[in-house]
Amino acid sequence: MDWTDGIAERHPVRHGEREHPRVFMLEYHDGRAPLILKVSKTDAAAKREALALRLLHEAGAPVPRLISDEFSGVLVLERIAGTPLGTIKDWSKQSEVSFWAAWKQLKEAWSRVRGELTAFSDSVDVHEYRESAMGLVSEMARIHRRPRQVRDIWGQIVELALSSKQSWGGLDYNPFNVLRDSTDTPPKFWFVDFESFGWDWDERRLWQLTTQIRSPDGSPQWRPLLRGSFGLAPAEDAHYLVFAAFALHQFYGTQLTCAECRRFFGSPNRKTSLATRCWRQLWQ
Ligand SMILES: Nc1ncnc2c1ncn2[C@@H]1O[C@H](COP(=O)(O)OP(=O)(O)O)[C@@H](O)[C@H]1O
Ligand SMILES: [Mg+2]
Repeated sequence: MDWTDGIAERHPVRHGEREHPRVFMLEYHDGRAPLILKVSKTDAAAKREALALRLLHEAGAPVPRLISDEFSGVLVLERIAGTPLGTIKDWSKQSEVSFWAAWKQLKEAWSRVRGELTAFSDSVDVHEYRESAMGLVSEMARIHRRPRQVRDIWGQIVELALSSKQSWGGLDYNPFNVLRDSTDTPPKFWFVDFESFGWDWDERRLWQLTTQIRSPDGSPQWRPLLRGSFGLAPAEDAHYLVFAAFALHQFYGTQLTCAECRRFFGSPNRKTSLATRCWRQLWQ
């Protein structure tokens, strides 16, 4: 049966405390499984996302099935009955194992479909990234009593982050783009939102997907969502530090970014790594 037949209700999906303005759940009179209707920001974005979803799904990635892209700028998708990562309260070891399995499947699928998507690539430019990271470092140096050390140590952290290899994948990551479906045991993780893709660092993707930088009501809140530790490899940790600095800066401004990072990285629960030690040397 066609997805347009017998629609009973159309609700916006919840997005944190709000309703998403462009993503709806379609429910049907005959009780068949609901679908998701997404109105993309542009027609081109819808086309890119439809192509990526089709290829990724065929390559075995945990992404929703594309039901239709027949109307310009609109996608109809299989609905994942899941909770966004950003709102999960009951993490278990099993959930964590499932998350990593899904992440691995997604990564492998991306590397297989890359050739067919290169034309739409919107990769992170290493040079530009370095420039904006060092711009932020200069701001931090301005308020620190030892500006030269701030530049030196941060310079090393930024270079360490940039030294890891980029891989191909999605470019829109936030904890609402990962859904956990707990109807089966073990729970299964799914990924959504593929309007943009290209080269980026996996470490950066992971940290952004698994760190909450805003609470569900929109206020700033810095909280790692996975319980187990990763990020102990120096390059991973360096990416996390740079990501933390950018994200916190966006919300708090320079002075408070330093205070917030100090609180977070100074936590005795966090295992020390090279980059974290550098950070502490400066800000504690
Ligand atoms: N196929 C789907 N099944 C269930 N929920 C979905 C699905 N697609 C999107 N959502 C929900 O809608 C939200 C917004 O969709 P998303 O594609 O991420 O749009 P945006 O580009 O505006 O972020 C997601 O964070 C997710 O919670
Ligand atoms: Mg999204």
